[in-house]
Amino acid sequence: MKINVIGMPIHYGADKEGCDFAPNKLREMNIQKTIENLGYEVEDLGDIDVVKVSSEDKFQDHPKMKYLNAILDANTKLAEMVHQSISKGNFPLILGGDHCLGLGSIAGVSTHIEKLGVIWIDAHGDLNTLETSPTGNIHGMPLAASMGLGHESLVNIYKDRIKIKEDYIVHIAGRDLDEGEIEILNQSKIKAFPMEMVKKVGMTKIIEETLQYLKSRVDGIHVSFDLDAIDSRYVPGTGTKVDNGITVEEARQLLTALASSGMMVSLDFVELNPLLDVNDTTAKISVDLLTDIFKNLK
Ligand code: ARG
Ligand code: MN
Ligand code: MN
Ligand code: MN
Repeated sequence: MKINVIGMPIHYGADKEGCDFAPNKLREMNIQKTIENLGYEVEDLGDIDVVKVSSEDKFQDHPKMKYLNAILDANTKLAEMVHQSISKGNFPLILGGDHCLGLGSIAGVSTHIEKLGVIWIDAHGDLNTLETSPTGNIHGMPLAASMGLGHESLVNIYKDRIKIKEDYIVHIAGRDLDEGEIEILNQSKIKAFPMEMVKKVGMTKIIEETLQYLKSRVDGIHVSFDLDAIDSRYVPGTGTKVDNGITVEEARQLLTALASSGMMVSLDFVELNPLLDVNDTTAKISVDLLTDIFKNLK
């Protein structure tokens, strides 16, 4: 299997500078060589071209969604690149960038795999719509949009259709959801393992139930990993830190188990912010987790 690295240097969804530097940070830390040394052929497809918009103009496209057109444009390009990659039988590794890139990656993968499962690992729901979002930051909306909720420009990005079925979604490590997101989650068919449940039953059980649940339903799994799923004390280099999260070891256990399931077809690795990082702590954790994922990928 060939790995395609795709950089998405975007920070507009977070409305905070820094995670646009993450793809190159990971390249500087030799992510390609490290994965090649595991025996893979790796082709870096480069970065998605993200148009420049000055921060004074963030509301120019829509009064409540920041940087809307730039985000739609970059994610449409990402979707096309991801679709091409996966259609060739390759494994797309999408390096963020903020989590708005889930719009494009899921649009691309779901075009090729109809019954696509999505595992969203995140302190946040990313289930906001235009109406529920307290911030107007689009990185808080991609999961809702992918299942058909929210502004039609987000829902219908790349292909004019809903990208994933609610009951093909598993959400893990949630602990900071906005009021409207809780309502959306409760009314949805998403299988959620919030942080309190992870703490109560342990990661081993969560992994088992997640795979058991998706195995009979889907033909492939896209994993969308937001670094802030990990407890704030371990990951200074991410923009919306939340305490009481999973440990680095729990993240490793989860990600390696998903990789070795034989069902994982693509991966988002998002919200690394090198400008907020302390001595590259979070960047090193990122390279380390990615290495272990590909060590276990089946
Ligand atoms: N729920 C908040 C919002 O909508 C925070 C979202 C954080 N999302 C993320 N991908 N880190 O703005
Ligand atoms: Mn997120
Ligand atoms: Mn295809
Ligand atoms: Mn998050």
